[in-house]
Amino acid sequence: MELSVIEKDLPQVLSGFGFSGKIDHISSGPLVAEVAVELGQGTKLSALEKAIKDIGREMGISGLRVAQIPNSKLVRFEFPNEKRQSIDFSAMINSEEFVNSQYDLPICVGAGIHGEPVLRDLAKMPHLLVAGTTGSGKSVGLNSFIMSLIAKKNPNELKIVLIDPKRIEFSMYNNQQYMLRPVITDMAAASSCLLQLCTEMNNRYSLFEKEMTRNISEYHKKGLNMPYIVCVIDEFADLIMFDKNVEKYVQMLAQKSRAAGIHLVIATQRPSVDVITGSVKANLPTRLAYKVASPADSMTILNTTGAEDLLGRGDSLLLEENGTLTRVLGAYASDDYIMETLKPYRCVIKEPVQDVREPEQQAEKNLPAKAESKKTGFFIKVIDFWNKLGKRNQSKIIKGIFNFAVLLPGAKKTKSRR
Ligand SMILES: Nc1ncnc2c1ncn2[C@@H]1O[C@H](COP(=O)(O)OP(=O)(O)OP(=O)(O)O)[C@@H](O)[C@H]1O
Ligand SMILES: [Mg+2]
Repeated sequence: MELSVIEKDLPQVLSGFGFSGKIDHISSGPLVAEVAVELGQGTKLSALEKAIKDIGREMGISGLRVAQIPNSKLVRFEFPNEKRQSIDFSAMINSEEFVNSQYDLPICVGAGIHGEPVLRDLAKMPHLLVAGTTGSGKSVGLNSFIMSLIAKKNPNELKIVLIDPKRIEFSMYNNQQYMLRPVITDMAAASSCLLQLCTEMNNRYSLFEKEMTRNISEYHKKGLNMPYIVCVIDEFADLIMFDKNVEKYVQMLAQKSRAAGIHLVIATQRPSVDVITGSVKANLPTRLAYKVASPADSMTILNTTGAEDLLGRGDSLLLEENGTLTRVLGAYASDDYIMETLKPYRCVIKEPVQDVREPEQQAEKNLPAKAESKKTGFFIKVIDFWNKLGKRNQSKIIKGIFNFAVLLPGAKKTKSRR
């Protein structure tokens, strides 16, 4: 719809629904056109929000949204553009705002309504929950967050842990100096890795105590080196379903790891209450919702509806700790761009030796964990091997064992008769 038509039609349609308002200004952005309106005195925004779908229908538009312009008495109607622009990631990180940003862990969330870069400090968030339906832009978003961090930090200052149960999203990050360990695709390994991060967090607290510092920035101020660790999980649902302990590890990390410089970015395409549990929600107040299937999903992520009306492919709502909601269009970093940027950092990264004991146990006995980890490591290997066999081979083996067990007593009997 043309802006001139919107300018003419909107006040009329609004008055048809019993709202009075005067258009203040109109501006167009990469995804939507903003029509800022000063509503008549006493008009409730909540009433307007309730009627917005019908207002859109009356104007022949789907995906119309209304929100307050921050720190202003105006509201803005967001009209989807007929042709949307995509946000180039390299333009975002070459922007003045990003280049001059002084954040500890700057991430480019994308572009705002007017195309301006939306930058946030992951160190302050201090963790991020990302959710949205399949194809809504989560993985593209995660890639842009990782690449923003890499743009500002060198491999001595930042280590990345990537957990990718889907096995396809992060393979290009393997064997990069930034990686703390190879990309984890196996669930048991992912769960024990989160446990290991808890151990690392506790170790870091012991170091802080020794150096009489309270957090990673004070530790850095003493001229000591300690890299930030950012752990990105692209599909949390699989992981939490596989091992319920994961919820406990996430809770431990989310509550205490900020000072230790360990941060989580957790994504899921299943924003249901069994995945985004009460404890996960309480511990991850900063959340990014891409398009979701239903208002209920939006409620689970943002505590409000609205994400179901987003336009997909990177269109998102960022909820911050202070409750503000910002509409952001994700930036797109192509695979070629990522590979080219990572080229200078290629190296061989091996699996670390794992300490798989519970952190409380490790604190109790400060013994080397090797003996126990060998035992548990063996079981993890067996489970891993079993999972890798596939369902067909697994059922063949089970049948074999079953047949053997059934035939064995029969064979014994025949032997004894003889
Ligand atoms: N910010 C964006 N700009 C342009 N295109 C995008 C953007 N985000 C996503 N897309 C398009 O949408 C497609 C799907 O995005 P993506 O793979 O990130 O979805 P997803 O949410 O991770 O889906 P799934 O849950 O299935 O993994 C991308 O291949 C890309 O073509
Ligand atoms: Mg994905």
